[in-house]
Amino acid sequence: MCGPAPRGDVLPTSNSGIEALARRFPAGFLWGVSTSAYQIEGAAASDGRGPSIWDEFCRLPGAIADGSSGETACDHYHRLQSDLDLMQRLGIPAYRFSISWPRVRPDGGAAGNEPGLTFYDRLVDGLLSRGIQPLATLYHWDLPARLQRESGGWADRGTAEAFADYAGMMARRLGDRVRSFTTQNEPWVTATLGHEMGVFAPGVKSRATAMQVAHHCLLSHGLGAQAVRAARPGVSVGIVLNLSPVYPASDAPEDVLQATRDDGLLVRWYLDALLLGAYPADVLDYVGADGPRIRPGDAQTIAAPLDFLGVNFYNPMVSGAGRRWVPAREGAPVTDMGWEVAPRDFSEFLLRLHHDYPLPPLYIAENGAAYQDRVVNGQVDDEPRRAYLESHVRAVADAIDLGVDLRGYFVWSLLDNFEWAHGYAKRFGIVHVDYATQERRPKQSALWYSRLLRAFLQPASTRATEPRQSTCEGMSRRTGSELP
Ligand code: FCB
Repeated sequence: MCGPAPRGDVLPTSNSGIEALARRFPAGFLWGVSTSAYQIEGAAASDGRGPSIWDEFCRLPGAIADGSSGETACDHYHRLQSDLDLMQRLGIPAYRFSISWPRVRPDGGAAGNEPGLTFYDRLVDGLLSRGIQPLATLYHWDLPARLQRESGGWADRGTAEAFADYAGMMARRLGDRVRSFTTQNEPWVTATLGHEMGVFAPGVKSRATAMQVAHHCLLSHGLGAQAVRAARPGVSVGIVLNLSPVYPASDAPEDVLQATRDDGLLVRWYLDALLLGAYPADVLDYVGADGPRIRPGDAQTIAAPLDFLGVNFYNPMVSGAGRRWVPAREGAPVTDMGWEVAPRDFSEFLLRLHHDYPLPPLYIAENGAAYQDRVVNGQVDDEPRRAYLESHVRAVADAIDLGVDLRGYFVWSLLDNFEWAHGYAKRFGIVHVDYATQERRPKQSALWYSRLLRAFLQPASTRATEPRQSTCEGMSRRTGSELP
């Protein structure tokens, strides 16, 4: 069901409104779009790519809502150059993509796969030649299947070590051109959705395993960061977490307690370990015998200084004694995922992080919304998504005004894509994909984002001195006719 659009405060922005919004961001602020390998690449069996846990999970009956998989996805692997051209036409300054581990090391062992590595060379070179900054994520959930089958995947400490070796190889290969590496994307999802609830690959249902996985993912971050820095001194290394406030379902003490525990599992488990050097005592108490085995030295490995922290934000969560991880408060506006639209909570939450932790520079590494889109006369008027994006960009500007050190914002996602257990039914792209023809069609949200980025990049002197009318004409000329 498509929820109502965010109300009231976000009307379509006029050109002057866009300029004023763009001016709220400091010089050097990095704007971009994000994707991940399994969700867009397709070419699952091409050029020596090995199977990942997602290829295998998708074969389980009932695992994916529409019975689909990422086998073809957006066929980005074969459409690389035209997708890069599209990004360039939209004026996107930076692109956060992920590397498919089984494409470059098919069975997770040390043997590399040259055609897979060459694909990422072409991707990076293609971005740089178009003036787009590449940011690489090393793990966005597509573990080589053999590591799962033979040793239990992230439940096994050896996977963290194998990851570090792979991370070092990728830094050696790409680090002359890619200056920003993210180790893990959303380890909470790998641990909790993948190993406790079993709704994501590899579909395990055990809290003890999930806690061990949470630890090993963080350990792999620490070991991976060491390997990247050893291979390429001077590159930026960070991690991306999905972070949200967790509100109690009611004022009842048992609901408040559960919300505190879930905040502990979602937010403090990761940030305390990364930034304070220890897991939160109340969470360790709560999980009791399900807590992870931790070796001496792990805490220091995990807490090595970060060059940046990526935050993925979509919606607040609600937890209580009866139901946990509910993605919206009652009666709140929601997206097609049923996820609450809550931009004010977003800026408040960023401020909380700023107060509670010694943060490195922050990037919003993902933010976006799924809505039901319709192509009418070749166009997709996705006003709810555009309004969602605008309200969240404003929330980022508010947080900057309040002192949070935010350095960038990335829209999830460039393209409609394979949305994990939801298959292709949920569309997050600012560019529409017709999966039958693979035709790409920028939605109104992409055109709006493009206008914002161009307004931001316009030299400050031009912005300040040009008479308003000619500025508007210039903008509509650039954004109206040139775009596909
Ligand atoms: C995030 C994932 C990303 C996408 C969005 C909607 O949790 O990192 O791959 O699925 O949610």
